[in-house]
Amino acid sequence: MYALVLAEDADGAAFRDAARRCIAQGLAPGAVTFSADGNAPLLPPPPETAEATPPAFAVPRAFIELLDNVACHSAPDRFDLLYALLWRIARGEPGVLDQANDPILGRALDYARAVRRDIHKMHAFLRFREQPGEDGPLFTAWFEPQHHILRRALPFFIERFATMNWLIVTPSGSAAWRNGEITFGPGAPRPPEENDAVLDGLWNTYYRTIFNPARLHVGAMLREMPKRYWRDMPETRAVPEMLRQAGARAQSMVDRPADAAPRFATRIAERRAEEITARETEASGEPTTLATLRDQAAGCTRCPLHKHATQTVFGEGPPRAALLFVGEQPGDQEDLAGHPFVGPAGKMFNKALGDAGIDRDEVYVTNAVKHFKYELRGKRRIHQKPNMSEIKTCRWWLSRELALVRPRLVVALGATAAYALAERTVPVMKERGTLMDLGAHRGIVTVHPSFLLRVTDAVVAATEYRRFVADLKTAARALEKLGDAA
Ligand code: URA
Repeated sequence: MYALVLAEDADGAAFRDAARRCIAQGLAPGAVTFSADGNAPLLPPPPETAEATPPAFAVPRAFIELLDNVACHSAPDRFDLLYALLWRIARGEPGVLDQANDPILGRALDYARAVRRDIHKMHAFLRFREQPGEDGPLFTAWFEPQHHILRRALPFFIERFATMNWLIVTPSGSAAWRNGEITFGPGAPRPPEENDAVLDGLWNTYYRTIFNPARLHVGAMLREMPKRYWRDMPETRAVPEMLRQAGARAQSMVDRPADAAPRFATRIAERRAEEITARETEASGEPTTLATLRDQAAGCTRCPLHKHATQTVFGEGPPRAALLFVGEQPGDQEDLAGHPFVGPAGKMFNKALGDAGIDRDEVYVTNAVKHFKYELRGKRRIHQKPNMSEIKTCRWWLSRELALVRPRLVVALGATAAYALAERTVPVMKERGTLMDLGAHRGIVTVHPSFLLRVTDAVVAATEYRRFVADLKTAARALEKLGDAA
């Protein structure tokens, strides 16, 4: 048995290199063990061999993602688990990642989940404090993650706080963002408790404002925000007092007389009336409501794509939304769920919408093509771009959705959507983010969220994400202006 000792901060890529060399030497999982975090078992390292070229084998994208997360876990056996899986993939075993009952895969998935959760906690609970720095204020934060997630959590902070200089310190490493560049340094223990009255006051005010005593659920709150994070979160000092007062405040909310109807209530009533009239006058077969249009689309056989897809994935959102987004076509998960943008691209889309201050519940989201087009490779359904004829055929549905929703602004997510809306090829990278005519509608084109998922370099990914959010913000501002003009 050999031991391969990885650097203390070894990530997925470092492990991959080492593992490929071990596979090249034919070292089965039981013959080599991996260690990191400064632990070195009393075992010899694998012998140096002349074998320089690791074997070529394809690794599924899902495995790389799993590997990058699992490699950050703090469990000492994380690399051994990964090696056991990689070994099987290298030997051509089919469906290594599809075996739901496989205990090794199960443990790796648990580790990946724990790492994702830890990253989420770091994003949510890290608090910067302003300090005087050499070239202006330096925002510093100390945070203790449970796993080695600092590098994986960084793109979020780079994207959010790109224009500030900041330093994040954890017990095992630190990262500094100064004038647009990231550098890594050593970690440090928790600093003595400081009290930055201004920042702490702001957090306290914010927290008190969003705290709703009528929706208090202490168990859920503690699950989401475990106590061990509280020490570095100034606003949590307000929690005990707010808990004490919650009952009385909730009662006073109940006792308060109802507010007057909001000023947009008449518009809601008008819309309702329009919908009812439309339903009543619907006789000719040409759908006059989204509900009937959706029902008809469910049986669409206008092009051959319906033959292999699970179901039609129709648009969703408020029937008279002011803002309407068009994607390309449903993906694998959308095809199974029957809803647009619920898979990985959908998650990216939701996050960007949130960061642009747009509420997904208030926008209508649809696709240029309503059936999933794919190619079967083994058991996997690999996305295929729809062709011009499929886009043109499916425009029958899109044009009717647009006619019924009557959005004030449309946003094309990617070239296929832009083509479907504008009925011409739009150079997305050149024309993104500018208000233009897209067919009969005012609109904006931007990239498709799945483009962001394909960028592998973390810094480029953060930049592209920022540009995408900026385009969405442009759309939100344009909508406001159009609203004012209407
Ligand atoms: N990509 C799209 O264009 N649409 C979806 O609904 C999902 C992914």
